[in-house]
Amino acid sequence: MNLDTLSLQQFGQPLSDITDSQVFELLLQVVKSKSDALPLNNGKKRLYYISAEFLIGKLLSNNLINLGIYNDVKEQLSKAGHSLEDVEELEVEPSLGNGGLGRLAACFIDSMSTLGLPGDGVGLMYHFGLFHQKFLNRQQTTVPDAWVSDDKWLEDEKTSFTVEFRDFSVTSELYSIDVLGYCREKKNRLRLFDLQTIDESLVSDDAIDFDKTALKKNLTLFLYPDDSDEDGQLLRVYQQYFMVSNAAQLIVKEAVERGSNVHDLADYVVIQINDTHPTMVIPELIRILTEKYGISFEESVDIVSSLVAYTNHTILAEALEKWPLKFIEKVSPKIASIIKKLDEHIRSTISDPSVQIIIDNKVHMANLAIHYGFSINGVAALHTKILEETELKPFFDLYPEKFSNKTNGITFRRWLMGCNPELAEYLDVLLGDSWRASAHLEELLAYRDNDEVLNKLQEIKQAAKDRMSRFLQDNQNAKVINDSIIDVQVKRFHEYKRQQMLLLYLIWKYFDIKSGHLPKHPITVIFGGKAAPAYVAAQDIIHAILVLSSLIANDADVSPYLQVIMIENYNVTAAEHVIPAAEISEQISLASKEASGTSNMKFMLNGAVTVCTVDGANVEIADLVGEKNIYTFGASSDEVVNLYECKGYKVQEFYEKPEIKPLVDFLISPEFISLGNEERLERLHKNLCSEDWFMTLLDLEVYIATKERVFDDYEDRRSWLQKSLVNIAMAGTFSSDRTIAEYNDEIWHLTPDK
Ligand code: G1P
Repeated sequence: MNLDTLSLQQFGQPLSDITDSQVFELLLQVVKSKSDALPLNNGKKRLYYISAEFLIGKLLSNNLINLGIYNDVKEQLSKAGHSLEDVEELEVEPSLGNGGLGRLAACFIDSMSTLGLPGDGVGLMYHFGLFHQKFLNRQQTTVPDAWVSDDKWLEDEKTSFTVEFRDFSVTSELYSIDVLGYCREKKNRLRLFDLQTIDESLVSDDAIDFDKTALKKNLTLFLYPDDSDEDGQLLRVYQQYFMVSNAAQLIVKEAVERGSNVHDLADYVVIQINDTHPTMVIPELIRILTEKYGISFEESVDIVSSLVAYTNHTILAEALEKWPLKFIEKVSPKIASIIKKLDEHIRSTISDPSVQIIIDNKVHMANLAIHYGFSINGVAALHTKILEETELKPFFDLYPEKFSNKTNGITFRRWLMGCNPELAEYLDVLLGDSWRASAHLEELLAYRDNDEVLNKLQEIKQAAKDRMSRFLQDNQNAKVINDSIIDVQVKRFHEYKRQQMLLLYLIWKYFDIKSGHLPKHPITVIFGGKAAPAYVAAQDIIHAILVLSSLIANDADVSPYLQVIMIENYNVTAAEHVIPAAEISEQISLASKEASGTSNMKFMLNGAVTVCTVDGANVEIADLVGEKNIYTFGASSDEVVNLYECKGYKVQEFYEKPEIKPLVDFLISPEFISLGNEERLERLHKNLCSEDWFMTLLDLEVYIATKERVFDDYEDRRSWLQKSLVNIAMAGTFSSDRTIAEYNDEIWHLTPDK
């Protein structure tokens, strides 16, 4: 493929003379013509991965990599004076996800294609995504993230279904995006349902509120619309039913086209539901089998129960959905009546009230998915253990055979080859390129004492730091201090993830520098992430971080040594810049609360050293790299569970400590308040010293001590680079290809299309 010739044909000008947007157009055509020509992965049995979110990121580079033409394209462009990086900037990032849950779904569909497994992602096409985050007066504001009209990848499948609600019906329109596998000649698709009558004009440019009752026009406007009132909650149920009714109709239609007589549907279909949002696919399939195919209720239940598998991603009660039965009755009386029948069956056979489906007139979606699915899995070993032994113990006692663990993973195409090409190329030099398919990096350990290799890793890290600095400068005019240590916490804002603990550490560090203890290297701490619009406490934390960032920047004594940058509108694109540059990875959730985490895996793969609590997949990372190459601290999961159970955490006792009180109180000091919003800061202060539900103060002192040890150790450059090397070498386990192979071997049983 010669881009110069293509450019002459298309624009009548050589590649060197066309603009970056013309190059972008050209590359799109190249990728599209290649991917259009690829057939779908085929097989009698097909997987449908239904998820409310797919945080897929930009697709151009990823597709070039998977088509095996990335290096060639990059070289041709560079010879003609273009940079692929600049061209990529022109692509708009789809806004179809929020955090780890959605990014996991994106990694999974990439791996499914790479392994040749016949299966698609199924979700909704949100016109304005979650929201676009903007900072105004050091606070998060939310505006619509319009992306659909600029997107270049969506194809109209020209397929529609009717979805019947109680009071009206609507028609859908199915769009899809090709999902290419790494060096594979077949593909899968991400299939996104839109509402034919969607009305973007319900939303103005500068706010994300809209008429939540205009259901015939609003179902696919936003991901997770504000559910702080009843209209918002109802809208979510309407959205979920819209998603699963379309999915179920599509799934049955395609199975029949492949030869199913519907009684044998489970030989043709397996459905993985990502968290509880798609749970209503169970009653919806039962409805279709009974109503449309005249199959008895009992047989329909058996069929559906043998083809639906559920992944749990959290033990937080707030995220285990429980919808009032009356909402489901309002959306679809038929679905409500099927759920009631399923619930009655459980009541008549199992006496334990905690496993019932309808409890206090609320439908417990996870309970429904566990009883009427054939598999339930957690996403890291510790998380699965907590599910089995604590959170879902009564279910584990009933159905031990349904439970398994599938530790999460990440695709190395995007999180190494795409975002850190220098490191990927250097690994080729050291290990040969077979790691690109196998993800085996352990041979790198042989270079642990090789100074040339360690120095080269340092050089690569520096190049990534420079690239990130340019990105932050261009995007939000933030200037990273030269030669500073890059310390990063990027993830959805939630109190259990404890961004507020890093905030309190930073206050400690600010005081320490003020008192004359100057760090040997300057430190740049980078945060990124969004807070849900109805989650005030998380927004308060963002506000305090932005205030501290300004306060430090305005302080001439401290600003040369410490800076805090909060990335505006953190998304996959920002992650691709920050993760390769990071030297310290912050994974500081309250033990037991983070199911797995996946940024921890991305950071280690790119050579950052992890500072973490013993939570989620951090446990597995620590086992792999060994204690010398990771910094763990804090209360263990058992201790935390115990504290909750016996109400043993007394926050006041920690707050009153002379080491802690000044740090927390600084949030309401005149200096802090002069830059911020008093109400927000006081609320955050009160929350921390009188409730602190996620036990920030419990771990704060040991966290501060650990961080200081980390910064000291950083000064021994050789030993730090050795830690970094070990982390890269041991990251292979966390390839999502491994995870997906496990799902397939143990749950889906699909035959890969060769
Ligand atoms: C959630 C969990 C996280 C897990 C991810 C994927 O992500 O909290 O531990 O790694 O699902 O399984 P979140 O949406 O919180 O980012």
